Amino acid sequence: MLMDQMIMDHSQETTSNENTAHIPVMLNEVVEYLKPERGNIVVDGTLGLGGHAEILLKLIGDKGRLIGIDRDARALALARENLSAYQDQCDFVHENYANIDAVLAKLNIKDVDRILLDLGISSFQLNDPQRGFSFRAEGPLDMRMDQDSYISAFDLVNSLSEKEISAILKDFGQERWHHRIARYVVQRRSEKPIETTKELSDIILRAMPRHSRREKIHPATRTFQAFRIAVNRELQGLEEALDKCFDCLKTGGRIGIIAFHSLEDRIVKQKFRSWAKSGELNLIVKKPLRPSDGEAKFNSRARSARLRIAERI
Ligand SMILES: C[S@@+](CC[C@H](N)C(=O)[O-])C[C@H]1O[C@@H](n2cnc3c(N)ncnc32)[C@H](O)[C@@H]1O
Repeated sequence: MLMDQMIMDHSQETTSNENTAHIPVMLNEVVEYLKPERGNIVVDGTLGLGGHAEILLKLIGDKGRLIGIDRDARALALARENLSAYQDQCDFVHENYANIDAVLAKLNIKDVDRILLDLGISSFQLNDPQRGFSFRAEGPLDMRMDQDSYISAFDLVNSLSEKEISAILKDFGQERWHHRIARYVVQRRSEKPIETTKELSDIILRAMPRHSRREKIHPATRTFQAFRIAVNRELQGLEEALDKCFDCLKTGGRIGIIAFHSLEDRIVKQKFRSWAKSGELNLIVKKPLRPSDGEAKFNSRARSARLRIAERI
Protein backbone atom coordinates (compact mmCIF):
# COMPACT_ATOMS: atom_id res chain seq x y z
CA MET A 1 0.00 0.00 0.00
CA LEU A 2 1.19 3.52 -0.81
CA MET A 3 1.15 4.59 2.83
CA ASP A 4 3.75 1.94 3.64
CA GLN A 5 6.15 3.10 0.99
CA MET A 6 6.69 6.66 1.96
CA ILE A 7 9.35 8.12 4.19
CA MET A 8 8.42 11.31 5.81
CA ASP A 9 9.53 13.00 8.85
CA HIS A 10 8.89 16.41 10.25
CA SER A 11 10.59 18.65 12.72
CA GLN A 12 10.50 16.05 15.52
CA GLU A 13 13.13 13.38 15.76
CA THR A 14 11.91 9.92 16.52
CA THR A 15 13.10 6.48 17.42
CA SER A 16 15.07 4.56 14.84
CA ASN A 17 12.36 2.10 13.83
CA GLU A 18 10.06 4.99 13.02
CA ASN A 19 12.73 6.54 10.83
CA THR A 20 12.19 3.84 8.28
CA ALA A 21 8.43 4.41 8.08
CA HIS A 22 7.43 6.03 4.81
CA ILE A 23 4.35 8.02 5.52
CA PRO A 24 3.07 11.16 3.83
CA VAL A 25 1.29 13.12 6.52
CA MET A 26 -2.52 13.61 6.50
CA LEU A 27 -2.83 12.00 3.10
CA ASN A 28 -6.55 11.23 3.45
CA GLU A 29 -7.34 14.79 4.47
CA VAL A 30 -5.26 16.21 1.62
CA VAL A 31 -7.20 14.09 -0.86
CA GLU A 32 -10.61 14.86 0.65
CA TYR A 33 -10.22 18.63 0.99
CA LEU A 34 -7.72 19.60 -1.67
CA LYS A 35 -9.93 17.51 -3.96
CA PRO A 36 -7.71 17.06 -6.99
CA GLU A 37 -9.76 16.34 -10.11
CA ARG A 38 -9.04 14.62 -13.37
CA GLY A 39 -7.06 16.81 -15.75
CA ASN A 40 -5.93 19.26 -13.05
CA ILE A 41 -2.61 21.08 -13.13
CA VAL A 42 -1.11 20.66 -9.66
CA VAL A 43 1.94 22.17 -8.00
CA ASP A 44 3.56 20.22 -5.19
CA GLY A 45 5.87 22.93 -3.89
CA THR A 46 7.60 20.63 -1.38
CA LEU A 47 7.90 17.46 -3.41
CA GLY A 48 10.21 15.59 -1.00
CA LEU A 49 10.32 11.98 -2.11
CA GLY A 50 6.99 12.33 -3.89
CA GLY A 51 4.69 10.75 -1.31
CA HIS A 52 1.76 13.14 -1.64
CA ALA A 53 2.56 13.68 -5.31
CA GLU A 54 2.01 10.04 -6.17
CA ILE A 55 -1.54 10.08 -4.87
CA LEU A 56 -2.22 13.43 -6.52
CA LEU A 57 -0.99 12.00 -9.82
CA LYS A 58 -3.29 9.00 -9.50
CA LEU A 59 -6.23 11.32 -8.95
CA ILE A 60 -5.55 13.81 -11.74
CA GLY A 61 -5.17 10.96 -14.22
CA ASP A 62 -3.17 10.86 -17.42
CA LYS A 63 -4.49 14.21 -18.67
CA GLY A 64 -3.29 15.96 -15.51
CA ARG A 65 0.08 17.56 -14.94
CA LEU A 66 2.19 17.84 -11.81
CA ILE A 67 4.90 20.39 -11.22
CA GLY A 68 7.09 19.14 -8.38
CA ILE A 69 9.35 21.70 -6.76
CA ASP A 70 12.02 21.07 -4.13
CA ARG A 71 15.02 23.07 -3.09
CA ASP A 72 16.89 19.85 -2.26
CA ALA A 73 18.39 18.45 -5.47
CA ARG A 74 18.95 15.02 -3.90
CA ALA A 75 15.33 14.70 -2.79
CA LEU A 76 14.25 15.76 -6.25
CA ALA A 77 16.38 13.05 -7.87
CA LEU A 78 14.78 10.42 -5.64
CA ALA A 79 11.29 11.76 -6.35
CA ARG A 80 12.04 11.50 -10.05
CA GLU A 81 12.82 7.80 -9.54
CA ASN A 82 9.82 7.19 -7.32
CA LEU A 83 7.48 8.85 -9.80
CA SER A 84 9.06 7.41 -12.93
CA ALA A 85 5.77 5.77 -13.91
CA TYR A 86 4.33 9.28 -14.33
CA GLN A 87 7.35 10.98 -15.90
CA ASP A 88 5.44 12.24 -18.96
CA GLN A 89 3.11 14.23 -16.73
CA CYS A 90 5.68 15.61 -14.32
CA ASP A 91 8.08 18.52 -14.26
CA PHE A 92 10.77 18.29 -11.58
CA VAL A 93 12.13 21.67 -10.64
CA HIS A 94 15.03 22.44 -8.33
CA GLU A 95 13.81 25.70 -6.85
CA ASN A 96 12.40 27.40 -3.82
CA TYR A 97 8.60 27.34 -3.96
CA ALA A 98 8.82 31.05 -3.20
CA ASN A 99 9.71 31.35 -6.90
CA ILE A 100 6.59 29.51 -8.06
CA ASP A 101 5.71 32.40 -10.41
CA ALA A 102 9.03 32.15 -12.27
CA VAL A 103 8.81 28.34 -12.36
CA LEU A 104 5.37 28.45 -13.97
CA ALA A 105 6.35 31.23 -16.38
CA LYS A 106 9.27 29.13 -17.59
CA LEU A 107 6.92 26.21 -18.20
CA ASN A 108 4.45 28.51 -19.98
CA ILE A 109 1.75 27.81 -17.42
CA LYS A 110 -0.46 30.76 -16.59
CA ASP A 111 -2.25 29.38 -13.54
CA VAL A 112 -2.90 26.11 -11.76
CA ASP A 113 -5.78 24.20 -10.13
CA ARG A 114 -4.15 22.94 -6.95
CA ILE A 115 -1.14 23.79 -4.81
CA LEU A 116 0.19 21.72 -1.93
CA LEU A 117 2.89 22.77 0.53
CA ASP A 118 4.02 20.24 3.14
CA LEU A 119 6.47 22.36 5.10
CA GLY A 120 9.67 21.41 6.88
CA ILE A 121 12.15 18.65 6.19
CA SER A 122 11.83 14.99 5.28
CA SER A 123 13.28 12.01 7.12
CA PHE A 124 15.44 11.50 4.09
CA GLN A 125 17.15 14.75 5.09
CA LEU A 126 16.90 14.30 8.83
CA ASN A 127 18.30 10.79 8.86
CA ASP A 128 21.40 11.51 6.81
CA PRO A 129 24.05 12.49 9.40
CA GLN A 130 26.03 14.34 6.74
CA ARG A 131 23.21 16.85 6.34
CA GLY A 132 23.61 17.94 9.95
CA PHE A 133 19.90 18.22 10.81
CA SER A 134 19.95 15.63 13.55
CA PHE A 135 21.29 15.96 17.08
CA ARG A 136 21.17 12.17 17.40
CA ALA A 137 23.93 11.40 14.93
CA GLU A 138 27.38 12.91 14.61
CA GLY A 139 27.71 15.05 11.49
CA PRO A 140 28.87 18.45 10.24
CA LEU A 141 26.82 21.46 11.31
CA ASP A 142 25.22 22.00 7.93
CA MET A 143 21.36 22.04 7.94
CA ARG A 144 21.02 23.46 4.45
CA MET A 145 18.05 22.07 2.54
CA ASP A 146 19.59 23.42 -0.63
CA GLN A 147 23.19 22.30 -0.93
CA ASP A 148 23.88 25.19 -3.29
CA SER A 149 23.06 27.86 -0.73
CA TYR A 150 25.93 29.59 1.03
CA ILE A 151 25.05 29.87 4.69
CA SER A 152 25.17 26.76 6.87
CA ALA A 153 24.48 26.20 10.56
CA PHE A 154 28.25 26.24 11.11
CA ASP A 155 28.36 29.85 9.88
CA LEU A 156 25.52 30.99 12.12
CA VAL A 157 26.68 29.12 15.23
CA ASN A 158 30.25 30.35 14.88
CA SER A 159 29.80 33.92 13.72
CA LEU A 160 26.58 35.44 15.08
CA SER A 161 26.71 37.47 18.28
CA GLU A 162 25.39 36.04 21.54
CA LYS A 163 22.41 38.36 21.24
CA GLU A 164 21.62 37.21 17.70
CA ILE A 165 21.86 33.53 18.63
CA SER A 166 19.67 34.10 21.64
CA ALA A 167 17.06 35.82 19.42
CA ILE A 168 17.08 32.93 16.92
CA LEU A 169 16.53 30.37 19.68
CA LYS A 170 13.75 32.45 21.20
CA ASP A 171 11.97 33.40 17.98
CA PHE A 172 12.32 30.21 15.94
CA GLY A 173 12.65 27.61 18.67
CA GLN A 174 10.57 29.18 21.45
CA GLU A 175 13.42 27.95 23.62
CA ARG A 176 13.00 29.05 27.22
CA TRP A 177 16.75 28.81 27.92
CA HIS A 178 17.80 30.87 24.91
CA HIS A 179 20.03 33.22 26.92
CA ARG A 180 21.92 30.44 28.64
CA ILE A 181 22.40 28.35 25.51
CA ALA A 182 23.63 31.35 23.52
CA ARG A 183 26.08 32.22 26.30
CA TYR A 184 27.47 28.67 26.41
CA VAL A 185 27.79 28.57 22.61
CA VAL A 186 29.76 31.80 22.52
CA GLN A 187 31.95 30.72 25.44
CA ARG A 188 32.75 27.37 23.85
CA ARG A 189 33.51 28.72 20.39
CA SER A 190 36.04 31.17 21.86
CA GLU A 191 38.16 28.05 22.54
CA LYS A 192 37.59 26.44 19.14
CA PRO A 193 34.93 26.54 16.41
CA ILE A 194 31.87 24.34 17.01
CA GLU A 195 31.94 21.95 14.10
CA THR A 196 29.59 19.04 14.63
CA THR A 197 26.02 18.28 15.62
CA LYS A 198 27.24 16.32 18.63
CA GLU A 199 29.37 19.23 19.86
CA LEU A 200 26.41 21.59 19.62
CA SER A 201 24.08 19.12 21.26
CA ASP A 202 26.53 18.60 24.17
CA ILE A 203 26.82 22.35 24.69
CA ILE A 204 23.02 22.65 24.79
CA LEU A 205 22.81 19.85 27.35
CA ARG A 206 25.40 21.52 29.52
CA ALA A 207 23.68 24.89 29.25
CA MET A 208 20.28 23.62 30.35
CA PRO A 209 19.49 23.42 34.06
CA ARG A 210 19.29 19.81 35.24
CA HIS A 211 15.53 19.83 35.90
CA SER A 212 14.75 21.07 32.39
CA ARG A 213 16.44 18.02 30.88
CA ARG A 214 13.64 15.77 32.07
CA GLU A 215 11.22 16.97 29.39
CA LYS A 216 9.64 14.52 26.99
CA ILE A 217 11.51 15.90 24.00
CA HIS A 218 15.28 15.93 23.73
CA PRO A 219 16.75 19.16 25.14
CA ALA A 220 18.41 19.96 21.79
CA THR A 221 15.16 19.72 19.79
CA ARG A 222 14.18 23.37 19.92
CA THR A 223 17.67 24.75 19.33
CA PHE A 224 18.20 22.52 16.30
CA GLN A 225 14.78 23.51 14.93
CA ALA A 226 15.63 27.18 15.44
CA PHE A 227 18.96 26.99 13.62
CA ARG A 228 17.37 24.99 10.79
CA ILE A 229 14.68 27.62 10.33
CA ALA A 230 17.29 30.39 10.40
CA VAL A 231 19.68 28.65 7.98
CA ASN A 232 16.92 28.02 5.44
CA ARG A 233 15.11 31.29 6.08
CA GLU A 234 11.94 29.26 6.33
CA LEU A 235 9.71 31.87 7.90
CA GLN A 236 11.02 34.89 5.99
CA GLY A 237 10.17 33.20 2.70
CA LEU A 238 6.76 31.91 3.65
CA GLU A 239 4.66 35.06 3.63
CA GLU A 240 5.92 36.22 0.28
CA ALA A 241 5.62 32.70 -1.11
CA LEU A 242 1.97 32.52 -0.06
CA ASP A 243 1.23 35.74 -1.97
CA LYS A 244 2.80 34.27 -5.08
CA CYS A 245 0.99 30.94 -4.69
CA PHE A 246 -2.31 32.76 -4.37
CA ASP A 247 -1.61 34.76 -7.54
CA CYS A 248 -0.87 31.52 -9.43
CA LEU A 249 -4.18 29.86 -8.49
CA LYS A 250 -7.09 29.75 -10.91
CA THR A 251 -10.47 30.93 -9.73
CA GLY A 252 -11.93 27.88 -7.98
CA GLY A 253 -8.40 26.54 -7.45
CA ARG A 254 -7.43 25.19 -4.04
CA ILE A 255 -4.35 25.49 -1.88
CA GLY A 256 -3.44 23.19 1.01
CA ILE A 257 -0.69 23.85 3.51
CA ILE A 258 0.59 21.44 6.15
CA ALA A 259 2.51 23.22 8.92
CA PHE A 260 4.39 21.60 11.76
CA HIS A 261 4.88 24.38 14.23
CA SER A 262 2.81 27.25 15.42
CA LEU A 263 5.07 29.94 13.91
CA GLU A 264 4.47 28.66 10.38
CA ASP A 265 0.83 27.95 10.99
CA ARG A 266 0.24 31.46 12.33
CA ILE A 267 1.58 32.98 9.11
CA VAL A 268 -0.66 30.72 7.01
CA LYS A 269 -3.69 31.45 9.20
CA GLN A 270 -3.20 35.22 8.97
CA LYS A 271 -2.75 35.17 5.20
CA PHE A 272 -5.81 32.99 4.63
CA ARG A 273 -7.89 35.16 6.96
CA SER A 274 -6.92 38.39 5.23
CA TRP A 275 -7.82 36.98 1.80
CA ALA A 276 -11.09 35.61 3.16
CA LYS A 277 -11.86 39.03 4.63
CA SER A 278 -11.29 40.76 1.31
CA GLY A 279 -13.58 38.23 -0.38
CA GLU A 280 -10.85 36.68 -2.52
CA LEU A 281 -10.77 33.30 -0.87
CA ASN A 282 -13.04 30.77 0.76
CA LEU A 283 -11.82 28.87 3.80
CA ILE A 284 -12.65 25.23 3.10
CA VAL A 285 -12.01 24.45 6.74
CA LYS A 286 -12.41 27.16 9.37
CA LYS A 287 -9.99 25.54 11.81
CA PRO A 288 -6.90 23.62 10.76
CA LEU A 289 -7.42 19.90 10.28
CA ARG A 290 -5.42 17.67 12.59
CA PRO A 291 -4.31 14.08 12.01
CA SER A 292 -6.71 11.40 13.21
CA ASP A 293 -5.89 9.64 16.48
CA GLY A 294 -5.02 6.59 14.42
CA GLU A 295 -2.52 8.46 12.29
CA ALA A 296 -0.98 10.25 15.27
CA LYS A 297 -0.55 6.91 17.03
CA PHE A 298 0.82 5.19 13.98
CA ASN A 299 3.10 8.04 12.94
CA SER A 300 4.34 10.20 15.78
CA ARG A 301 5.74 12.66 13.25
CA ALA A 302 2.24 13.58 12.18
CA ARG A 303 1.21 14.66 15.66
CA SER A 304 2.07 18.31 15.29
CA ALA A 305 0.68 18.64 11.74
CA ARG A 306 -2.00 21.21 10.95
CA LEU A 307 -3.58 21.34 7.52
CA ARG A 308 -5.33 24.45 6.21
CA ILE A 309 -7.18 24.42 2.89
CA ALA A 310 -8.67 27.33 0.99
CA GLU A 311 -10.23 28.01 -2.40
CA ARG A 312 -9.71 31.07 -4.56
CA ILE A 313 -12.96 32.82 -5.39
C1 LIG B 1 8.04 17.44 4.58
S1 LIG B 1 8.92 17.19 3.14
C2 LIG B 1 7.69 16.91 1.91
C3 LIG B 1 7.34 15.49 1.74
C4 LIG B 1 6.39 15.18 0.60
N1 LIG B 1 5.12 15.83 0.80
C5 LIG B 1 6.19 13.68 0.46
O1 LIG B 1 5.09 13.19 0.73
O2 LIG B 1 7.14 12.96 0.08
C6 LIG B 1 9.38 18.82 2.77
C7 LIG B 1 10.25 18.96 1.52
O3 LIG B 1 10.13 20.33 1.13
C8 LIG B 1 11.37 20.83 0.78
N2 LIG B 1 11.31 22.28 1.03
C9 LIG B 1 11.21 22.90 2.22
N3 LIG B 1 11.14 24.24 2.04
C10 LIG B 1 11.17 24.44 0.71
C11 LIG B 1 11.11 25.60 -0.12
N4 LIG B 1 11.02 26.83 0.42
N5 LIG B 1 11.12 25.45 -1.45
C12 LIG B 1 11.21 24.21 -2.01
N6 LIG B 1 11.29 23.07 -1.28
C13 LIG B 1 11.26 23.19 0.05
C14 LIG B 1 12.38 20.08 1.61
O4 LIG B 1 13.64 20.05 0.98
C15 LIG B 1 11.72 18.69 1.72
O5 LIG B 1 12.19 17.85 0.71
